[in-house]
Formats: sequence, structure tokens, C-alpha cells
Amino acid sequence: MKNIRGIVFDLYGTLYDVHSVAAACDTYHPGRGREISTVWRQKQLEYTWLRSLMGDYVDFEQATRDALVFTSRQLQLPLDDAARLALCQEYLRIAPYPEVPQALARLQAMQLPLAILSNGSVNSIRSVVAASGLEHCFQHLISADSVQIFKPHDSVYLLAEQQLSCDRSELLFVSSNAWDASGARHFGYPVCWINRAGNAFDELGQSPDHVVQGLDQLADWMEAQQHTV
Ligand code: LAC
Repeated sequence: MKNIRGIVFDLYGTLYDVHSVAAACDTYHPGRGREISTVWRQKQLEYTWLRSLMGDYVDFEQATRDALVFTSRQLQLPLDDAARLALCQEYLRIAPYPEVPQALARLQAMQLPLAILSNGSVNSIRSVVAASGLEHCFQHLISADSVQIFKPHDSVYLLAEQQLSCDRSELLFVSSNAWDASGARHFGYPVCWINRAGNAFDELGQSPDHVVQGLDQLADWMEAQQHTV
């Protein structure tokens, strides 16, 4: 991976823990927060895939709101308008995984441009990174919203290649979402999959180039790559 000239990160689930909203969900339905968050995230992703296939785009924030309505009805856990608005606001403040800030600092020290490529709108991406004080880490915040279709469509991955002005073979794509890593690999990026939970990789005809259990291990690997002759 010596010819890597930039790193492109997925946001939700990769740098930031979407299930950090479970605590807020618990305040409305004690003991059910993680269950709500899990159904909510899965349905949010399903809606992005289905909306893309239908050619009926709405932004990620709308898909997230819709997924929470479904979740409340599916689990028969009432959430009024104010509660749903409050929980969706929590999505703008999700927490980075513990190892992320220090690992990003180590990757920054390698003088490589760091970018985020996410389904989220630019405003949402900006809110999330600002809330965690990490906005200074990234040279590019890139949203699928600019092409009105979601990952894993090629046109989303193309955005990072265009904005970083590198060939896709020179950009390392990093995601914890195996379906997203597969889409990026299919597009032509070298891919690092962060597998924190010991999951199986998706069967989509693609394989990651490198697998780590946390962003700190990616920094270890990149530093080792730089030091090899
Ligand atoms: C994103 C979702 C797919 O950040 O995790 O694009």
C-alpha cells in the first residue's frame, strides 16, 4: 500500500458509533434503547438501498426520520413528534469510537489528506465531526447527497476520486460496514475493513485488502508501510 496518497473514511459505524444514541432512546423507553437503535439503524440502511433502487431519493436525514417512525411502530414503543425530533438530533452528536481521535492524529501526521465520504448530508457530516472536535482532521467532507443516490452506487464512490484528484488505486477506503467496503472495492478502491465486532464479511464477490479491529491498528499498519523500504 505504499502508493496510498489519501484516505477516505465512511462515517456512520466506522468513525462514529451510531448506537451511542441508545442512551437517549432509553430515556423514552427504559431498557429498550439498544433495541430501538439497532432496528432504527438497520431500517435506515434498508431505506437508503431501497430508495436508490426505486429512483426515489430523499436525503439521509429524511431516511433516518422515516426509519425511526417505522421502528416506533414495529416495536410498539410510542415516540411523539418531539421525541422523534430529539432522537434525530442525537444523530448529529454521535460519539466517535474511543480509539478514533488518537488514530486520526497519527494518520494526519503522515501528511496524507483525510476525507469523509458518507450518505449523510454535508451539514450532518459537519455537525457530527464538529460536535466531536475532529473537524480539523479532514480536508474533505463529501456527501452522497450531491449525486442524489446512496452507497454502494459507483457514482458516490467516484466523488472522492474526483475531489481528491487521485486515481482510485491511490486512495484507501476505510469502512466498518462490509457492504460499503464491498461497494468501494467493486468501484476500485483498496479497502480496509474495520471489524470491531468479529463479524463475517458480506458475500458480495469482493474482499477487503486489509482487516483491522480498530482505527489504531490501521495507523499501526500505515506507519509500518511508510517505514518499509
Ligand atoms: C455512511 C453510512 C453508510 O456514513 O455508514 O455513509
